[in-house]
Amino acid sequence: MTTATAQAHPNIALIKYWGKSDEAMSLPATGSLSLTLDIFPTTTTVEVDEALTADVFELNGTVRDDDAARRVSTFLDLVRAQAGTTAHARVTSTNTVPTGAGLASSASGFAALAVAASAAYGLDLDEAGLSRLARRGSGSASRSIIPNVALWTEGDDATSYAREVPAPTIAMVVVTLDAGVKHVSSRVAMRRTIETSPFFPAWVTSTRTSLDEMVAACAAGDFTRIGELTEANALRMHATMQGAEPAIRYLSPASIALFDRVVALRAEGIDAYATADAGPNVAVICPPADAERVAAALRETTDALPGVNASVLVAGPGPGAHLVDRAGGAA
Ligand code: DP6
Repeated sequence: MTTATAQAHPNIALIKYWGKSDEAMSLPATGSLSLTLDIFPTTTTVEVDEALTADVFELNGTVRDDDAARRVSTFLDLVRAQAGTTAHARVTSTNTVPTGAGLASSASGFAALAVAASAAYGLDLDEAGLSRLARRGSGSASRSIIPNVALWTEGDDATSYAREVPAPTIAMVVVTLDAGVKHVSSRVAMRRTIETSPFFPAWVTSTRTSLDEMVAACAAGDFTRIGELTEANALRMHATMQGAEPAIRYLSPASIALFDRVVALRAEGIDAYATADAGPNVAVICPPADAERVAAALRETTDALPGVNASVLVAGPGPGAHLVDRAGGAA
């Protein structure tokens, strides 16, 4: 029996991944770029046990027998195929990010699982290999393997993985508006967008251009350009999916109020820019020195909205997924 424990953090994309070119291999239609956060870690232990007749998946103290458990098992099949074994495993995971609320819980989840499972099954993978493996669990998980700012490139199975790129220190104020499970999973929503949104081809073209510009702006430390590209790309992603049939609309009135407040903050001279993933939550990037002021403004906005229960947290750049324990000893 071999055991390994790993920890990973969520990431929020500044240039988004929305749409696959190959579903089976989880290859993206375009590259994307994200900030790995230092909040909401997922810690996962994988215990390979020859005596088990099936995999067991426990999340936050509850044994799961649902789609989440099947996704974990399907992922372990990939690891087992590479390791040349059929042994099952017990996977115990603690997730501090609100699961399924569009805060990329699948990113930290599959990044932690990739690192823990590959160690427990004895695979010797480098960072690129771990990112490729995590990608198969959930596309955005490829980026949570990487610390700070990660660029996940498009390509084939061998070349589509994330790596760290130079960037200034970015703070992110995360506003959680709804910790509940979202109505349409990003996987299903992406598929519907590709099949029915007439805006999808323009999304692909504009995202490729924005990604090149973003990598250059990060290398140059041009915070204002990083912010402008971030907000434009997020709104374009939401516009693209709102063009699907039936439309996919994740942003709520409270999300829009927060985007408006960020525009007002810029008018006051603060370099703040908003983004949002597959849910109503809003994340705002700004220079670290302005983060508390931005957080206070966003709290004021959500406090004034009737019936809205928000939490506002300041995050900074976080570590890549890493082993915290292996076979009972230090990694
Ligand atoms: C809006 O990585 O969750 O957060 O690959 O189907 O598991 P699957 O999708 P997932 O999608 C993330 C979409 C996004 C944008 C992003 O993180 O780039």
